[in-house]
Amino acid sequence: MNIGIFGGAFDPPHLGHVDNAVRAFESLGLDRLIIVPTGQSPHKAGGVLRPAAEDRFNMAKLAFGIREGVSVDDLELRREGRSYTADTVAQIRERYPGDRLIFIMGSDMLLTFASWYRPEEIVRAADLAYLSRGADDTALSECTARLERDMSARVIRIENKYIDVSSTKLRRLLALGLLGEMLPLGVYDYIKARGLYDTGERPTGGDRLLEWSLRRVDDKRARHVRGVCETAADLARRWGADAEDAFSAAALHDVTKGADAGLQKVLCSLYKVVPDQWEERMPQLLHAKTGAAAAAALLGMSEEICSAIRWHTTGRSGMTMLEKIVCMADYTEPGRDYPGVDKLRYLSLRDLNGALLAALQMTVQHETERSGSIHPDTLRTVEWLKSQGKEKCDA
Ligand SMILES: [Fe+2]
Ligand SMILES: [Fe+2]
Repeated sequence: MNIGIFGGAFDPPHLGHVDNAVRAFESLGLDRLIIVPTGQSPHKAGGVLRPAAEDRFNMAKLAFGIREGVSVDDLELRREGRSYTADTVAQIRERYPGDRLIFIMGSDMLLTFASWYRPEEIVRAADLAYLSRGADDTALSECTARLERDMSARVIRIENKYIDVSSTKLRRLLALGLLGEMLPLGVYDYIKARGLYDTGERPTGGDRLLEWSLRRVDDKRARHVRGVCETAADLARRWGADAEDAFSAAALHDVTKGADAGLQKVLCSLYKVVPDQWEERMPQLLHAKTGAAAAAALLGMSEEICSAIRWHTTGRSGMTMLEKIVCMADYTEPGRDYPGVDKLRYLSLRDLNGALLAALQMTVQHETERSGSIHPDTLRTVEWLKSQGKEKCDA
């Protein structure tokens, strides 16, 4: 019998994994395929809470377990201590002493294979197969040649042209409201039912909302977001606006900013956001729209708060007080350090419209010099602010 062993974190298992399994099954002429979720203790990575071993095992069963000849094995999840592939392959070899074993992995894993724990034991017990994305395979060919020469390994290449999905991206998308399109049948329902990957909690304000948002951004941005929250609440108190609303809008204003161009597109289709021609060229601008849409859809934030998120990058003609405050706090939070920022901080406490006008004019000048392209909404806001007097303030 030809028996394939396919290991991975499957955190979560997605359609790319299933496609890999099917492709490996067919191209290697397998009689059996054993899916092995890697042992891994629950921990945080990229901020979003990760599921326990039992949940990963159940998700893998939902994703892979309905195909004939395919089974999901929890041997690594049951084993104490660190899981080594050498131990896993040895355990399976004991079960099938006379059969051919083929250990299947991604191409990135093949490149590091020689540095794994006891690689010679693995290649003595099993052949190796890797899934190639069909791109430049020079490094992989060299690696294969080395493994064949140094360890007498038998290495098989499996052509794999499936779309590039990664679990890291999926976890982030799940936390931002992904529907189940990229997940196998049943897996998304399981995730929702168990509230995995932060799909359960729905805070509406305060520190819990800030924490929820910070789990969706990287550390550097988290510092920025904290600063914007602090500054927005101060400005709201100074200008007689609702400090809690200002804090909430600030907490969420950059919640989708970590999404790259590809993920922004997915979020746009998920939230029915239509990018304009500037956003098509500069997808990083989209985070204002997708962030506002996520705040409404995932958390049911009020229209005022979502609108402050929506307009925090460009402003708009007829901005509300809350919109001005979040936009200004984004420019002047304590972590900002650029020529003129102290003047903007001073001005924001005395003349909010003047401060915003000065800040946006700096952006216009900077962007014109840098890229020669400036979003027309910013220019419209500048013209509108010029027509406005000082913001009235009794404080
Ligand atoms: Fe932003
Ligand atoms: Fe920001």
